[in-house]
Amino acid sequence: MTRATIELGNVTPHNIKQLKKLNSVVFPVYYNDKFYKDVLEAGELAKLAYYNDIVVGAVCCRIDTSEKSRRLYIMTLGCLYPYRRLGIGTMMVNHVLNYVERDGNFDSIFLHVQVNNEGAIDFYKKFGFEIVETKEHYYKRIEPADAHVLQKTLRSKEQRNGTHEENGKENKKAH
Ligand SMILES: CC(C)(COP(=O)(O)OP(=O)(O)OC[C@H]1O[C@@H](n2cnc3c(N)ncnc32)[C@H](O)[C@@H]1OP(=O)(O)O)[C@@H](O)C(=O)NCCC(=O)NCCS
Repeated sequence: MTRATIELGNVTPHNIKQLKKLNSVVFPVYYNDKFYKDVLEAGELAKLAYYNDIVVGAVCCRIDTSEKSRRLYIMTLGCLYPYRRLGIGTMMVNHVLNYVERDGNFDSIFLHVQVNNEGAIDFYKKFGFEIVETKEHYYKRIEPADAHVLQKTLRSKEQRNGTHEENGKENKKAH
């Protein structure tokens, strides 16, 4: 038996309906037209995952510049249930990790997960994400309504501000 081909492809006006269908099956949250309009302009920040030419997964991210930092926000990253544990999620996370590395100017990557989504939490921990906050009543229409914020730090606050610890002493970088 030959091995399956798993690959990522662009989101275009021709396949956006497949992304909508996939997200409606994988996530308990509804994403509106504005979400998909933005996704069409997101370039490498939105990808479909194919298993032997069939769409089985997708990742959608955006750049977040609130809280005085430049962060990549994973809005959705999911895979159809029968195709899980085949490395498709890993391929999508690696795509995101490669994107931020090539860019070189992100402080962190973050996302929200429902507190009971242990599978996703274990999955993200494998890539160095950690729970940094828990937001009560984050979701309006689903139970449990609380969300963990999972974050992978790429650059510390000191590095961001141009300062760093050296021999226990803080040095201000010359500009
Ligand atoms: C989380 C999710 C994307 C993982 O996708 P996937 O394609 O199954 O992930 P992978 O096959 O690449 O898994 C890589 C590793 O992560 C860990 N992992 C993945 N799913 C796991 C689970 N349910 N429980 C425990 N560990 C898990 C395992 O270590 C796995 O390696 P292994 O299969 O060799 O043991 C998928 O379960 C999913 O779509 N969930 C619903 C959507 C969601 O909750 N998304 C997260 C919020 S954006």
